[in-house]
Amino acid sequence: MSESDDTDVQLEARLREQDYFRPPSKFVGQANATDPAIHDEVGEFPEGFDRYAELLDWDERWDETFDGSNPPFFEWFVGGKLNASYNCVDRHLDERKNQTALLWEGSDGEQENITYQDLYVRVNEMAAALRSIGVEEDDVVTVHLPMVPALPVTMLACARIGAPHSVVFAGFSAQALAERVDSADSDYVVTIDGYYRRGEFLDHIEKADEGVESADNDPEVLVHYRHDEPNADVSDDYTPVDDLLAEHERERVEPVSRDAEDPLFLMYTSGTTGKPKGCQHRTGGYLAYAAATSKNVLDIKPEDTYWCAADIGWITGHSYIVYGPLALGTTSVMYEDTPDYPHKGRIWEIAERYDVDIFHTSPTAVRMFMKWGEEYPEEYDFDFRHMTTVGEPIQPEAWLWYYKHIGDEDAVIVDTWWQTETGGHLITNLPALEDMKPGSAGKACPGIEPALVDDSGDKLPEASGQAGNLIIEKPWPSMLQTVYGNDERFIDTYWADFSDTDSDDWRDWNYKAGDGAVQAQDGYWRVLGRLDDVMNVAGHRLGTMELESAVSEVEKVAEAAVAAREDAEKGEVPDVYVVLREGIEESDEVKAEIIAAVEEEIGKFARPANVVFVDDLPKTRSGKIMRRLLENISNGDELGNTTTLRDPSVPERIREQVHGD
Ligand code: WT7
Repeated sequence: MSESDDTDVQLEARLREQDYFRPPSKFVGQANATDPAIHDEVGEFPEGFDRYAELLDWDERWDETFDGSNPPFFEWFVGGKLNASYNCVDRHLDERKNQTALLWEGSDGEQENITYQDLYVRVNEMAAALRSIGVEEDDVVTVHLPMVPALPVTMLACARIGAPHSVVFAGFSAQALAERVDSADSDYVVTIDGYYRRGEFLDHIEKADEGVESADNDPEVLVHYRHDEPNADVSDDYTPVDDLLAEHERERVEPVSRDAEDPLFLMYTSGTTGKPKGCQHRTGGYLAYAAATSKNVLDIKPEDTYWCAADIGWITGHSYIVYGPLALGTTSVMYEDTPDYPHKGRIWEIAERYDVDIFHTSPTAVRMFMKWGEEYPEEYDFDFRHMTTVGEPIQPEAWLWYYKHIGDEDAVIVDTWWQTETGGHLITNLPALEDMKPGSAGKACPGIEPALVDDSGDKLPEASGQAGNLIIEKPWPSMLQTVYGNDERFIDTYWADFSDTDSDDWRDWNYKAGDGAVQAQDGYWRVLGRLDDVMNVAGHRLGTMELESAVSEVEKVAEAAVAAREDAEKGEVPDVYVVLREGIEESDEVKAEIIAAVEEEIGKFARPANVVFVDDLPKTRSGKIMRRLLENISNGDELGNTTTLRDPSVPERIREQVHGD
């Protein structure tokens, strides 16, 4: 047995004996949040959250912390005025204009070191550029950019002029872009000619071409170039951002004083229907909560080098690469390419080069690093004080590996549970105050009141160890304001199930997370996963209906159902079960066509793992597809109850086809 096997065994034995890991005392000694009274103080509803808002600079202080008079349309820091870009940029100039705000590393090692002063100049020029093409306060600007500095610069420029941004993850397809442009009624798209994936230049502009073509809206397109030279493949109809910036060189744009309740951005996310929802986030409450959790949970200090290795195109990047960290005036790292390019030690190489203090990633990435082996991190000299996971539950085994091989048994780990809708962490430990417990997200954040209810809405006893539907009983500042343009869907999706919707009293309203969870006797929460038709692929949320409607775009398909299959690396992957139209032969070509349709409608990251041709789908007598049975088949589990099916023999036939008998 090698030495490392030996310590692994010891570590596992230790884990079995003791569920908890104490934060290292040298961490505790320097942490931002060290007084347990923070829970009571912030929990003083609603004024406890004032201390979060006080982390920001306000043009006008709020009159009222919380207005719950029109549930579930809650308002925060009512009457207050502020600007998010001012808070993330301008206010740091006095103290740290020469400090790096964004440290960008390109695919092939190219670097950009953007100080707060540089960021100030760039954000102002971009704000002037946006204004010059007619962007006005409250116009939605769609931003379809990859991990290049132009992305946070554009977001902050939008915030500066009070134009909500709607960032569409660069991996989303042209169709997905078009859908979001139309849904947000957006007249502006900011994009780029291309970027690097595994060292190859990837054409990105074709997505703008196709997306703009198929959108009902006719947005004006601003295009960045990945290199200094213009790219001849880009349509003349688009405006090169560099030309505009040159016209507005050194221009200053006064930050617009926004109402605390004015929207800061939209972020589309998958739900249970085919159409993604535009989660609308407010300026004051969102920024206050993102800044406070960055401080208390992520332990960020201005002098730190902080790296959240997520993509800004998802909520994690919005809250914890851009808004939270920059509001605190720290140095935030951005990396363009994948963790394995040009070698599997790339992440640790960057960590060493910039001497990263705080590192943030997903369980999927940890499982991947674990599969690659500890020889990669071992080659580099880096020393994290604090590490985060987000997006899915982490298995104790992966947690331990992360703790030992990345954290050197000397860093704290927080497992942060939250959602696009929640804007910031809701369940996670405060790292100096609560012991780590592998596999558990941890305690509720200060001021957050999670609870569990059964399917009829009855509350389960506290800390009972029973699984239930996770709800949040009290509003919090960074909760979504609504689903853009669709208040009814907002109420139906998040509130109707477990609230008294006739009541005017906010106490009768409970936010439904859509997750199942357990609260153990020690009060720690373990989140089990989605209870609705939403799956979690490598930490990315995908609606099964969204996938199914993409598959149904293929003419040869009569019917399709998507099942989530457990996957050792990605958490879950989509299996597609397809009934073909009469007379269509099953073939690899049809499979390829189906996969291409998903890539076209959603994006490559949503690619089905398996396409299975079947004669029939399991359906109830009323015709509803029982996806859960397909999930049992995909996962090789026992079939659940099939007696309510129209044809109870269907699942068994599919099972035999997939697994043999
Ligand atoms: C869903 C939200 C929050 C940013 C990334 C994902 C799952 C999230 C955890 C965690 C267990 C988690 C939930 C949640 N999830 N964090 N720490 N432990 N599950 O945001 O795309 O809106 O997805 O991700 O199922 O509902 P999202």
